[in-house]
Amino acid sequence: MKNILICLLAMTTLAPAFAAAKPQAQPFGKTTDGTPVEIYTLTNPKGTRLRAMTYGAIVVSLETPDRNGQSADIVLGYNTLAEYLKDTPYFGAIVGRYGNRIAHGKFSLAGKSYTLATNNSPGGMPCSLHGGLKGFDKVVWRGEPLAKPGAQGVKFTYVSKDGEEGYPGNLTLSVTYWLGEDNDWRIDYLATTDKATPVNVTQHSYFNLKGEGNGDILGHTLTFKASRITPVNAGLIPTGELRSVQGTPFDFSTPHTIGERVNATDEQMKFGGGYDHNWVLDSQNGSLALAATVHEPTTGRVMQVLTTEPGLQFYCGNFLDGKLIGKSGKPYQFRNGFCLETQHYPDSPNQPKFPSTILQPGQTLKSTTVYRFSVK
Ligand code: BGC
Repeated sequence: MKNILICLLAMTTLAPAFAAAKPQAQPFGKTTDGTPVEIYTLTNPKGTRLRAMTYGAIVVSLETPDRNGQSADIVLGYNTLAEYLKDTPYFGAIVGRYGNRIAHGKFSLAGKSYTLATNNSPGGMPCSLHGGLKGFDKVVWRGEPLAKPGAQGVKFTYVSKDGEEGYPGNLTLSVTYWLGEDNDWRIDYLATTDKATPVNVTQHSYFNLKGEGNGDILGHTLTFKASRITPVNAGLIPTGELRSVQGTPFDFSTPHTIGERVNATDEQMKFGGGYDHNWVLDSQNGSLALAATVHEPTTGRVMQVLTTEPGLQFYCGNFLDGKLIGKSGKPYQFRNGFCLETQHYPDSPNQPKFPSTILQPGQTLKSTTVYRFSVK
């Protein structure tokens, strides 16, 4: 009996991390030019399951349990590759080479001007959005399954050619997704280049912690570790100012629901059609720090966002309009999902006072973001 007890005690105190196996790649269809696409399924002992494919490094589904142990898929998206190829507002994708906007699709670097395709024009003002016409969300990445004690992973690699979408330099980028027994979805970005180039990559998942297809996200409560935003003009391009959120609908330094002030008569809110802004995170030293906490009261789901990045774009799905039919056959209506995109500030290549997004040859860009799941 004593031996059994000692044995049990040893098992609980010295419990090894779960011996994760490498995830298997499964076929997920072909692009229009016949390139095969594969999907990887990562699981953990907490009942969380993340599926990500080589097209766009897109997270196709993310299932987590609610406070009663009921699982739901908490990201918007589609069941098939064909639907992603047809029309998607960047559901679940990695966006780049420059995530978010570059004014007029122009920037200069070392005395040379560069012109990008302008694929977006809020307020009638053209800009380059999320990497241009064929950004990193629309290319096939190389997938490599990974495992380490306590976590399963997949590393996606893409080499973006010199001149691709108008950007200078051959850029080698890897994005690794880890799903750990700690219930963290960790994203590690690594990039190198052979010519100076702007780089700003982010993850563009649309969350609904009630479960995708279960209505709007207005009841989610947010808390941000950020006391300023980068206000924008009507083209959603930062004016260059860092503005205090105090006394405005942008103040999430204490918990507020998304819906509480989203329809406020505020010029910034009018430009974005709701929240579609970059928050300047209080932590600016490049270490992994808490940026945001989201709580959905009906299911008890909590999501924390930690990042090494200096900014956080909070977009509350103002451009969703019911035309896209999601995984459970329901239309994604206005504000049925929200994005929390960790990033450098929009239009940084044209904003000398913002933290630089220029990657130089010989440097390695390293960035980490964690989406941490729990219930309360
Ligand atoms: C931007 C929105 C944009 C959306 C596209 C977000 O990252 O902030 O302005 O419309 O991406 O799906």
